[in-house]
Amino acid sequence: MPRSTRRHFLAQSAAAATIAALPIRGLAQDSAPATLKSAVAPQSAVTPGLRVGCCVAARLLRDDPAYAALVKQQMNILVAENEFKFGPIHPQPTAFFFDDADTIINFAEHNGMKMRGHNFVWHRALPPWFATYVTPANAEQVLVNHIETVAGRYKFRIHSWDVVNEAIQVSDGLPNGMRNSPWQKVLPNYIDIAYRTARKADPHALLTYNDYDIEGEDEASSAKRGAVLALVRGMQQRGVPIDAVGIQSHLSASPTPNPKYTYGPKLEQFQKDVQSLGLKMMLTEMDVNDRYLPADIPTRDAAVADVYTSYLRTALANPAVIALLTWGITDKYTWLNHEGSRKDGQPERCLPFDADLKPKPAFSSEYIALRAAARR
Ligand code: XIL
Repeated sequence: MPRSTRRHFLAQSAAAATIAALPIRGLAQDSAPATLKSAVAPQSAVTPGLRVGCCVAARLLRDDPAYAALVKQQMNILVAENEFKFGPIHPQPTAFFFDDADTIINFAEHNGMKMRGHNFVWHRALPPWFATYVTPANAEQVLVNHIETVAGRYKFRIHSWDVVNEAIQVSDGLPNGMRNSPWQKVLPNYIDIAYRTARKADPHALLTYNDYDIEGEDEASSAKRGAVLALVRGMQQRGVPIDAVGIQSHLSASPTPNPKYTYGPKLEQFQKDVQSLGLKMMLTEMDVNDRYLPADIPTRDAAVADVYTSYLRTALANPAVIALLTWGITDKYTWLNHEGSRKDGQPERCLPFDADLKPKPAFSSEYIALRAAARR
């Protein structure tokens, strides 16, 4: 589509119209519509690198043009919700499937966005063949081949790779809080192997360690943060390449004060600790589960927006944080309707745009937090 036609199309899109009309105090004087990516447009030399994005699905980019237009309008970095994971991209021991991953990275590049890679190693999304085919004898070769093939294919095109995802699960009782994952069982030093292989295969990508439940003020989150810090410190001591920590940021709004759903000084200290190791950070998968809130929509939207505001005030304050991505853009397609969903069967309202692709109070919270961070 020529540039002028594209602009015309965007200007006409329902999403653009609602955003332009969004009643946010202090934004009325802006001539361009308030979009998340405009909130992080370089405003100071201090934070030239702050990006905003979300996860996307190839099927939706192909089949839902309003969704694709909204993503394009709002974001400047994307990640695939599932399409780069081991099972989807490596469905047979000797066969890879790149069509859906290609759809997403091509969409990102076509629209001038960066692309994150998610992920090489996870205890979930493994293909059915993993359990029968992979043994201690061939596990290293399988892992190295997987990373060389996938990272090699997208070499120079990936902003950051989540090389290992969710390797810590303190309650599993293994040394150092390691999760008793399928990889751990067949290849106990899988982490070092994965990062070394990734660095060689795509030296341009930032190599990230990504995990969840490291945001809250409760004891369990503190223990997990401690294990994550020890993991990345240990990697550095062994000379294993690592550049960044991904703080997933799957949060919940709580109707009553609860340290697990409070985000403050302990997260701030963790971020300082990560920063002092010379590592960058990304908030990689933010959403705010409203399952503990009553059904009333204005109540839920206000509480969810409050969590966006309070969390991002803390989590974006550290200048080593270089990106914020939400896990989806619209409530219409959130994974939380399938996992960890509300007991009353109401659809979740966890993301910045509602199921009609209209901005919610959470959008305003995110926009304002990004502007404040970009100006720091
Ligand atoms: C989720 C996807 O959103 C779902 O579609 C899929 O069924 C399961 O995985 N942490 C992660 C993401 O790192 O990869 C997960 O994505 C959500 C939790």
